[in-house]
Amino acid sequence: MAHDASIDTPAVSDGEGVRRRDFINIAAVSAAGAGAVAVVYPLISQMSASADVLAESSTEVDISAVEPGQAIKAIFRKQPVFLRNLKPEEIQAANKVDAASLRDPQTLKERTKEGHENLLITMGVCTHLGCIPLGPFDGNTVLGEFGGYFCPCHGSHYDTAGRIRKGPAPKNLQVPEYEIDGTVVKIG
Ligand code: FES
Repeated sequence: MAHDASIDTPAVSDGEGVRRRDFINIAAVSAAGAGAVAVVYPLISQMSASADVLAESSTEVDISAVEPGQAIKAIFRKQPVFLRNLKPEEIQAANKVDAASLRDPQTLKERTKEGHENLLITMGVCTHLGCIPLGPFDGNTVLGEFGGYFCPCHGSHYDTAGRIRKGPAPKNLQVPEYEIDGTVVKIG
């Protein structure tokens, strides 16, 4: 019996050896396959990221239907942007403020394009903690104490130039890069 066992042992050992080698080979091939996937994936990932960035790098909005006193919301780079057609009295209200006295001193002229002082384009993101302020859209009539935008999260009031006038927000609503071509605004 002991002899049989000594004969059997190498045979079992060889069998295991073969199986181990097979496993190692399979593992090596699998690792190579995984490596190939790992190399290819970042390339695909980069290509799709580029496509996404290109698609979202600008937003075009037709503002022909936005009457004086109205605003619309659009999406630019996954964030809301407000496009507002100011009424003459809203322009006057913004211009009669001494900009130097403001928390974030800027004139309406500095925040709009020449010849389009009525068109206020800002990000719709409160500069306090990022809520979306209320404005003259979606049937809302609450515009805050300065007739511009009101952020209900913690009570920031923006005026008709989108400048912070009261509440915790530290900065004016951000004006993005944009161009005006007729009735189309290209943001970004
Ligand atoms: S997020 Fe607008 S006031 Fe705080």
